[in-house]
Amino acid sequence: MKELKERIIHDGIVIDNRILKVDSFLNQQLDPALICHIGTEFARRFSDTPIDRIVTIESSGIAVAYAAALAMKNIPVVFARKKMPSHAMENTYHTSVYSYTKEETYEVAISKQFLPAGESVLIIDDFLASGEAALGLASLLQEAQCNVAGIGIVIEKSFQPGRQRLQEAGYRVEALAQIEKFENDRPVFNQAKS
Ligand code: G4P
Ligand code: NA
Ligand code: NA
Repeated sequence: MKELKERIIHDGIVIDNRILKVDSFLNQQLDPALICHIGTEFARRFSDTPIDRIVTIESSGIAVAYAAALAMKNIPVVFARKKMPSHAMENTYHTSVYSYTKEETYEVAISKQFLPAGESVLIIDDFLASGEAALGLASLLQEAQCNVAGIGIVIEKSFQPGRQRLQEAGYRVEALAQIEKFENDRPVFNQAKS
């Protein structure tokens, strides 16, 4: 997605050839027009697949998941919570996710009432790195007896193992910007696809 890649080049900040900060348009401040175009692009890429619902994780996935759901004719969006009151956990699907970037494990939970069995569900997230977050969401969906329609990612770090792990597990991955590597604190995009 050209507009997204241009924005990353213009406003993204690379830290230690390792982390891309996109706080000025995606992770803290939001650019509504760009987020809206991201949603439209997800809808276009997955237009060949029936999708009943979108699932993401709080907090950074919510805006892009919302935009995609609106573009997909207003289907429901559900976000997994990272902090659920313990009394509420028993009526949830939940699993733990290890974050390599933050070096911590957190629990993600979704109330069972918001994952009806038999639906086709699209997973959306802002970043794909190790793939832990997406694999965690996929396992919740399996437990809920939903079909994983695919995984939509805004920014993929292709040099990390996330995409390969998800594809080996049988999931279709669509990423709107694929970063092949960082070089001198600049992102180098994979030109082949996104
Ligand atoms: P994963 O997201 O594929 O599971 O990989 P990893 O465990 O490495 O990522 C942990 C968290 O760090 C995730 O955020 C992920 O989006 C974020 N992350 C990974 N690489 C980058 C990067 O280069 N730049 C930025 N900005 N974030 C990165 P999270 O735990 O889901 O937190 P939240 O931001 O959604 O609240
Ligand atoms: Na994030
Ligand atoms: Na995220």
